[in-house]
Amino acid sequence: MVEEEILVLGATGSTGRRVADRLREAGYRVRPASRSGAVRFDWGDPATWEPAVAGASKMYLMAPDGVVVDPSFITCAVNAGITRIVLLSSRGIEAMGDERLLSAERTVRASGAEWTIVRPDWFAQNFDEGVFRPAVMAKELVLPLGGIRQAFVDADDIAAVAAAALTEEGHAGRSYELTGPDALSFAEALAAISRAAGRRVEFRGSEEDYRAVQAAAGADSAATEAELAAFAALRGLGDAEPTDTVRRVRGQAPKTFAAYAAEAAARGAWRD
Ligand SMILES: NC(=O)c1ccc[n+]([C@@H]2O[C@H](COP(=O)([O-])OP(=O)(O)OC[C@H]3O[C@@H](n4cnc5c(N)ncnc54)[C@H](OP(=O)(O)O)[C@@H]3O)[C@@H](O)[C@H]2O)c1
Repeated sequence: MVEEEILVLGATGSTGRRVADRLREAGYRVRPASRSGAVRFDWGDPATWEPAVAGASKMYLMAPDGVVVDPSFITCAVNAGITRIVLLSSRGIEAMGDERLLSAERTVRASGAEWTIVRPDWFAQNFDEGVFRPAVMAKELVLPLGGIRQAFVDADDIAAVAAAALTEEGHAGRSYELTGPDALSFAEALAAISRAAGRRVEFRGSEEDYRAVQAAAGADSAATEAELAAFAALRGLGDAEPTDTVRRVRGQAPKTFAAYAAEAAARGAWRD
């Protein structure tokens, strides 16, 4: 058992759960934090911050969708003895104008702690654990990305790189763009899921379809237009290029999307 304690935020979520598991398997002491986690931590309740960071020397920092990384929390963490931070950010945030994650990156760089930033492409797990699961179960995903290819990355690979950055030397001051081994269009990704799960899931990638679906769901039209602008900016980047970062840091090839889909289907992830 390694004596230092590592705080893992979002420890019940897709990446945090895997980071905590990997660290425990490697013998590290973990403080698994979230609103419902063993260590209570709530971004919206500053009274939970100091007790959560107390005793930890390193931190996996993730903020759930829509939540801003409050600089006062980082100050609180560093004052309490956190000397290394690994931040979950995202690929493409400059083009998409994601000020939430851009400011989180600036805050971490200026924190005074050693930092590493991980910038993954779309998570493969969006389809079985995350935001696209309801669409897969409804057999139709509507997203205004047309046919551009994205380098979906498995959350296990993200967690492996984050755990390496937390526990090994040589990752400080680096930003890692994390991808899977191939770039696939959403239609191709859904075809892989359809094959693995034995359920046919269609893809519709036009702006008109997205507008119609959002309006039918009662979404605010200004918010929908802002999303469309961000998606248009992402389309403007063209097909994503896979990187070799997972292989370099993890020492192992990243998982293919087909392997992810086969494993999730075997677990019964898309059973009705
Ligand atoms: N999905 C993608 O393709 C993708 C790609 C690149 C980057 N990202 C970024 O990844 C992040 C999401 O990561 P993830 O998928 O690992 O998370 P996730 O699966 O969405 O889980 C969210 C975690 O945050 C905790 N949480 C929610 N609200 C909280 C609050 N108010 N205070 C404290 N904890 C809270 C949840 O646990 P409790 O409910 O117990 O609090 C849970 O552990 C986002 O910042 C997103 O922008 C996503």
